[in-house]
Amino acid sequence: MKVRISDDALAIACGADAVAKAFTDAGSDVERVSSWGMHWLEPLVEINGIGFGPVTPADVADILAGGADTLCIGPIAAHPFIARQQRLTFARAGKTRPLDLDDYYATGGWQGLAKAREIGPSASIEALITSGLRGRGGAGFPAGIKWRTVAGAQSPQKYIVCNADEGDSGTFADRMVMEGDPYVLIEGMAIAGHAVGASKGYVYIRSEYPHAIAKMEAAVKACAHLIAPFDVEIRVGAGAYVCGEETSLLNSLEGKRGEVRAKPPLPALEGLFGKPTVVNNVLTLATVPWVLANGAEAYAAYGMGRSRGTMPIQIAGNVKYGGLFETAFGITLGELVNDIGGGSGSGRQVRCVQVGGPLGAYHPPSQFDTPFDYEAFTGVDGLIGHGGLVVFDETVDMASQARFAMEFCAAESCGKCTPCRLGSTRGTETLDRVLAGENVDANLALIEDLCDTMKFGSLCALGGFTPYPVLSAITHFREDFVVRNKA
Ligand SMILES: Cc1cc2nc3c(=O)[nH]c(=O)nc-3n(C[C@H](O)[C@H](O)[C@H](O)COP(=O)(O)O)c2cc1C
Repeated sequence: MKVRISDDALAIACGADAVAKAFTDAGSDVERVSSWGMHWLEPLVEINGIGFGPVTPADVADILAGGADTLCIGPIAAHPFIARQQRLTFARAGKTRPLDLDDYYATGGWQGLAKAREIGPSASIEALITSGLRGRGGAGFPAGIKWRTVAGAQSPQKYIVCNADEGDSGTFADRMVMEGDPYVLIEGMAIAGHAVGASKGYVYIRSEYPHAIAKMEAAVKACAHLIAPFDVEIRVGAGAYVCGEETSLLNSLEGKRGEVRAKPPLPALEGLFGKPTVVNNVLTLATVPWVLANGAEAYAAYGMGRSRGTMPIQIAGNVKYGGLFETAFGITLGELVNDIGGGSGSGRQVRCVQVGGPLGAYHPPSQFDTPFDYEAFTGVDGLIGHGGLVVFDETVDMASQARFAMEFCAAESCGKCTPCRLGSTRGTETLDRVLAGENVDANLALIEDLCDTMKFGSLCALGGFTPYPVLSAITHFREDFVVRNKA
């Protein structure tokens, strides 16, 4: 009998190591596996497919004696949170030991790379284009088109850069891939290298992810012979949100200040050290092996409109059942928040959800019928970004949230362009006046004008998208602003 407990950072933060030790001390054979992504149940313990959670060391004797009925959730795979998902990128979540190469082989590992080597670079790129896979880092640019550009560039040296900065609030899917299934990411990078003619890859991981860094370093060492002549190196970022923006990231990788570069030239043509470079998010690259192994059409069969395949959605904030929910595009925001997330964690009414990180819009319940789809979210002045949802209940003050968005931009701006650097600081000051009740209508009009300048004049989406949270708060929750009016 094996006792399976996750060694994911979230499980560990919830006490998984102490629970694992208690089982070991009781003579059980403990296996540390990846996380299923049901965060409210961590530390989750699995014995013969049956789940118990959240478990404390004090529950261990009871579980081993066949008791602990109140903690038992039945067969994990049949739990509605899991059974409703379509896990392609996260097919191994909860099922394998993250660094065990036998587990990886036994669950279809390296089949995508084998297929890419068999069909060759141009057919691999064609497959990616046919699959419809779009970048999961935020911009949603078709991955295959980017690869074709890099493949077509003439240069003896090209690079694959994996963006693992994962700076968006409420997101954790990249971390879960790196900690739970590191080989799938490395395999995706090796396929990218083979397809575009790059022999070197870098994974740029934020320093706040020590477990992911350790797992990735160990994984790169363990599988080096399987991906050769392709070679992967891990690089650690110093913790700036803007270093998730691809050109800042490249500067940071080169040892320079994390400042945005003007585009063009595109990184696909002049990227790392001036060479043609594929920059893709962790989820984008980790999905590539599935596409190659199972076929582009099989992947494209999921989804809606131009949003093909599945999206690992991260449900967080004030929510009852937070966690990783991978599903085909098309599910509505309301289904995600209420049916799957179970509403707010506080039990109060849900007032809004911020989708897509700190640059995403705040959506009121009247927009909960919006399907998870790039174009549908653009249609409601929002974005799906990296797929993070942060839920707020009715106690939230949306005027403070708008100010927070502006202040975040001021704090994180790289300073290179004026609309972002100065606009966000003047915007924060103006919102302070609104919060103090000074000439609210006139100051809100000024904010709307400023947002226009930031949107169209900023060099990158940090300044360019800050208007989304600010304007959505003003548009949908104006009552939180005007109530302060002293004029
Ligand atoms: C301010 C800012 C922060 C960003 N942060 C991230 C990030 O943390 N991770 C990420 O993958 N992409 C991030 N992006 C998007 C990247 O610039 C880029 O679009 C992405 O890495 C490309 O990979 P993809 O096509 O696979 O999504 C950010 C963009 C901006 C403007």
